[in-house]
Amino acid sequence: MHHDVLVIGSGVAGLTFALRMADHASVALVTKAAIDEANTAYAQGGIAAVMADDDAPEQHIEDTCIAGAGLCNRDIVEIVVREGPARVRELMDMGATFTRINGNGALHLGREGGHSANRIVHAADATGYEVEHTLVERVQAHPNIHVFEAHYAVDLITEHHLGRHVSRLRPDVHCFGAYVLEKATGTVHTCTAGVTMLATGGCGQVYRHTTNPLVATGDGVAMAYRAKARVANMEFMQFHPTALYHPEADSFLISEAVRGEGGILRNQAGERFMPEYDARGELAPRDIVARAIDDQLKQRGESHVWLDISHKPAEAIRTHFPTIYDTCLQYGIDITAAPIPVVPAAHYQCGGVQTDAHGRTSIHGLWATGEVACTGLHGANRLASNSLLEGLVFSHRAAPPALQYLRDDAYRPDGIPDWDASGTEQPGEHVLVTHNRDELQRVMSNYVGIVRSNVRLKRARRRTRLLYEETEAHYKASHVSEPLCELRNMIAVSYLIIECARQRRESRGLHYTLDYPEPHDAERRATLV
Ligand code: FAD
Ligand code: SIN
Repeated sequence: MHHDVLVIGSGVAGLTFALRMADHASVALVTKAAIDEANTAYAQGGIAAVMADDDAPEQHIEDTCIAGAGLCNRDIVEIVVREGPARVRELMDMGATFTRINGNGALHLGREGGHSANRIVHAADATGYEVEHTLVERVQAHPNIHVFEAHYAVDLITEHHLGRHVSRLRPDVHCFGAYVLEKATGTVHTCTAGVTMLATGGCGQVYRHTTNPLVATGDGVAMAYRAKARVANMEFMQFHPTALYHPEADSFLISEAVRGEGGILRNQAGERFMPEYDARGELAPRDIVARAIDDQLKQRGESHVWLDISHKPAEAIRTHFPTIYDTCLQYGIDITAAPIPVVPAAHYQCGGVQTDAHGRTSIHGLWATGEVACTGLHGANRLASNSLLEGLVFSHRAAPPALQYLRDDAYRPDGIPDWDASGTEQPGEHVLVTHNRDELQRVMSNYVGIVRSNVRLKRARRRTRLLYEETEAHYKASHVSEPLCELRNMIAVSYLIIECARQRRESRGLHYTLDYPEPHDAERRATLV
């Protein structure tokens, strides 16, 4: 298959980029599950954007930089904040419907942790669903976009596949597309393209408890790392403070907007504890709230804390949070009358494949956008609801230089080989893959979670090394399969998180270590791999 553009992933980032390119180029969009199965579709709180007269870009810039704990790239923050409102308006022009005051007045703007103003544009508590479905409708109607659902990108095609040695220290690599597994048939297609866009989202699944859906296995970062792209800041894994604690709920998110509307965190003795940790209380940035909850749970030996919004009028709760209300009710919790049991869960990858201000990676012909990318916006901690915004802004910005690259620089070398499956067999016991996935998630949660230490990281490194060796041996001997590739990618991403965490000898933003509990100016730089 050859197209001008290959987009891998169908969340806000991939769909937006496909639409930007499709009026000028042929686009293949591959996605490993159904088109709308993406982190994007689960986003609740909304999109942070300066839309109100009494708000100002400078404030949003400041809030983003404060949350990022000294590691945000201020130029990038300026770009995102200043271009964001126009991107949100374009979404509305495409048909996205956001909540308005009294049904048809001005936009209702919500509040979330770390924001100094109400600036969260939202569709009740199902903003991601609204964004995803608005974009999917456009993509499916565009004659120049060919969507391949249930197609799994296995690896990027680079000079390495032409038999040329690429040094990790001085990589000068071009990307010519990707090998893509058609899941229904087991066929691996050679999908070539002038421009390849990674929009594969994050990696929450490397942890045992995560708000992310099953597709979030860090494939993009792992593929890019294998292709020798520059990867940065992977130690900054964001834990959302409030996922529903219930044996059957699978870390369902309770939006930060619940705290924005007055929700209060209490321990099991009924005591409000956040003011002891931060003057901003429940609306402190996420790293602080998640660490405070972790501290309460450890000190008190309890399994969860309570998030209580039941003091607000029941009708207002049901209107603003219909998804959360209905879901909690399914588990027997009426949030208008009782507090919600919550714990922190892995939520967002702040680091990723390093890009410039137009989404270009260190590999020619390879772009990255959305959660897979490390643009410099988030620094050491992402401000709430800045992520959908980042995807919209960078997918828009990437299009003009990508079109120019197509015109001036892109080429398809001779001799790109098809996927080589010789010497491999049908994988034997699938249970080996599921056991290793389970073990990896436990290691990452136990040793590389909210609080880290040198000893824990060393232990995690040793355990993941063993999993790596076993999985590589299995991979080399087996026909390619999605579960095995995902496991391999999750191990690669875990390795990157551990290595970045080991490199950072300080505590900053989301990276907190008992051995270096304070930030150090000398360490105030991105961690590069
Ligand atoms: P995704 O939306 O995750 O899309 C990635 C796509 O890549 C998927 O289609 C996936 O199937 C595909 N893919 C992955 N690997 C492969 C592969 N190997 N081959 C083919 N396809 C592949 N952010 C906000 O700004 N505001 C919010 O309110 C908010 N709420 C959130 C609530 C929840 C529960 C979660 C999980 C996240 C939330 N976030 C929020 C974060 C935000 O949703 C994500 O960061 C953002 O949607 C990422 O968009 P994306 O397009 O980069 O990736
Ligand atoms: C939430 O609704 O709390 C999630 C917001 C985000 O992750 O940005």
